[in-house]
Amino acid sequence: MTPVPIKLVDLMTAYQGSALIGTAVESGLADLLAEGPLTIDEIIAKLGTDDRGTMALLAGLASYELVERDEDRFSLTGLGAPLAGSHPETVAQIVLKEWFFYKLWAEMPVAVKDGHARTGPWRERLENDPSQAHAFLRALDDLCTLFGGELPERAGLDAAGRLLDAGGGAGSHAANLVEANPEIEATVLDLPGAEPVLRERHPELGFVEGDLDQPRFGRPEDENWDYVLLSNILHDHPADRCARYVSEAASLLAPGGSLVIYDWVIDPGRTSPPGVARFTPMMVVENEGGWTWSEEEIAGWLTDAGLDPQPMKRGFGPIAVIRGLRT
Ligand SMILES: C[S@@+](CC[C@H](N)C(=O)[O-])C[C@H]1O[C@@H](n2cnc3c(N)ncnc32)[C@H](O)[C@@H]1O
Repeated sequence: MTPVPIKLVDLMTAYQGSALIGTAVESGLADLLAEGPLTIDEIIAKLGTDDRGTMALLAGLASYELVERDEDRFSLTGLGAPLAGSHPETVAQIVLKEWFFYKLWAEMPVAVKDGHARTGPWRERLENDPSQAHAFLRALDDLCTLFGGELPERAGLDAAGRLLDAGGGAGSHAANLVEANPEIEATVLDLPGAEPVLRERHPELGFVEGDLDQPRFGRPEDENWDYVLLSNILHDHPADRCARYVSEAASLLAPGGSLVIYDWVIDPGRTSPPGVARFTPMMVVENEGGWTWSEEEIAGWLTDAGLDPQPMKRGFGPIAVIRGLRT
């Protein structure tokens, strides 16, 4: 009999690492251990957790080299250290976002069968569960800090101008563009429920309430922008909506302006690059009609909106830039 490859076994059991990491952050263990090494009795006393359960959690985390034991004290390893909220490169908010999806992905078989998302749209999430939606937006901001630095170079917004970051959330990417070119004046447009996170994370940016589903995103007729950014927006929506959003964004541009799409762009065969291919099921589970779009599809919407699509620029990560110019 052929032995089952280790890679397959690792994939089958990968949920165990995710669950242990989610528990380490949600239980407060990671934050606690960041303060210094502790014995199991000290950990149990501070967390109020079960002794057997706590030892099992520590054992599991040690098996992934996230926690280490020195005599009778436990501490975070270098690999585990960013799980703490106090770490300068903390991934704690990102872990909580993934922990939310961990539970959602258990419904993947149903989503594959019926094609429907297992969460509501952003508007509903911001209104019904603001703490979860805000945590999500904070996680996106942290992800941008860790991995989003390539947008300014790829977007090439070299001239001074006014930028509207439509559906900008915490304003992470607009802030990076302004940092790269201080002559850009950026305003984030989002649903009102997103404003607190923008104010918390990037108070230096302007904010306007708006709605992607309204003509001109709810902006007045006489207003126009040198740059409009749609970052991580199109993947949340079906094709007809994407076409509409691109067309409304184009209508906001001043002559010579450009629309910057920053999104997870899939290859035409829809199975690569791997990071984008793996993101596709996330979109099916998370967003009604969510999908990863190809360069051709995005360029088609830009052309239909009267813009001149520029070739896609891909960086080291899965998210690529496609710019459409208003001539
Ligand atoms: C996936 S997040 C992307 C956030 C940010 N652009 C980024 O790249 O990190 C989607 C954003 O779109 C906003 N959004 C969703 N529906 C919207 C609507 N109808 N009008 C305005 N903003 C909307 C959400 O509040 C959220 O901030």
